[in-house]
Amino acid sequence: MKVLGIETSCDETAISVVENGTKLLSNVIASQIAIHAGYGGIVPEVASRQHIRDMVPTLEAALKDSKLDLEDLDVISVTYGPGLAGSLISGLNTAKALSLSLGKPLVGVNHIEGHIYSSWLISDRNGTPDEQPGFPIACLVASGGHTDLILMERHGVFKLIGRTRDDAAGEAFDKAARILGLGFPGGPEIQKAAERATGHVVEALPKAWMGHSLDFSFSGVKTALLHMAQNKDIYPRESSKLTLSQFNSLVAELSDSFQSSVVDVMVTKLLDMAKRYHVKGVLLGGGVSANTHLRQELMARAQLPVIIPPPILCTDNGAMIASCGYYQYQRGQEFGLNLDIDPSLSL
Ligand code: KG4
Ligand code: ZN
Repeated sequence: MKVLGIETSCDETAISVVENGTKLLSNVIASQIAIHAGYGGIVPEVASRQHIRDMVPTLEAALKDSKLDLEDLDVISVTYGPGLAGSLISGLNTAKALSLSLGKPLVGVNHIEGHIYSSWLISDRNGTPDEQPGFPIACLVASGGHTDLILMERHGVFKLIGRTRDDAAGEAFDKAARILGLGFPGGPEIQKAAERATGHVVEALPKAWMGHSLDFSFSGVKTALLHMAQNKDIYPRESSKLTLSQFNSLVAELSDSFQSSVVDVMVTKLLDMAKRYHVKGVLLGGGVSANTHLRQELMARAQLPVIIPPPILCTDNGAMIASCGYYQYQRGQEFGLNLDIDPSLSL
């Protein structure tokens, strides 16, 4: 069964074809990063308009890469929430038009569940996560909009165990990068800067454990970073008296300190959840799980199977939507053409 996956919840127009939920036939991502970088963040109206420009070329490229025609598709799956309203509308309306004109079933996918299904696409040789460690699986989905600890009991059965009470992890990375004068998106920039750190110059940044809770809070570490950047004369950059090399080396140390603090909290809470819920494995998803330090820390500290998609499948993509859509269709979940977007859709 060949499923088309359309993902337009934020600033990527991403379309893929996936066979039987696990085999990637194509994965085309039209990124808008260069367009939004100039604004230091995503401008929703600009994103919506760009999706419309990129939609047909992205669809054509996804079909060409998979060597298929529209008629060969069996199911059309699409993200209908959560995300930016205008962005979601462009993807959903494209999916509806395809479904109606081709006479193929339409499946609406929750973006957060989609991120979890990136791990079903890496499993050609070893079996899917449900076949490998088996359920239940403790999932951390950390992206620009969410930091959720999710218990996946079986396909389609998810329980939200913890979430951020303020900033999402990716949002915190993006804001930290802005404080340090680094580019957008901030996660990869902080990671790159942190690789230059020697680890000796600055004190550690705070970590919000919040007692026994499995919720997160990242606004405190961000504010502490701002104060430290001000004390060290990094921020605001325009009035800094530091030489370029002093400035760059402090940015590296602060990036490292920030990244360590955020990663330690995420790994500790994910493993705490794993223990409390007696899971068979832990899984990462969402843009922040592309972070090398997070991946290494989790692998080093976990004493149970760890499932992490390759970085290209961590950030937004259509393949995860196609995979999730496949499993939903298998369970008989079909959606009518009256399906609407839901920008604040929860699990
Ligand atoms: O999942 P995603 O592509 O889009 C959303 O659904 O939000 O996640 C984007 C987020 C951004 O905040 C970005 O800074 C972060 O993922 N990110 C990273 C890395 N790559 C992307 N954060 C930390 N380290 C990375 N290497
Ligand atoms: Zn995402």
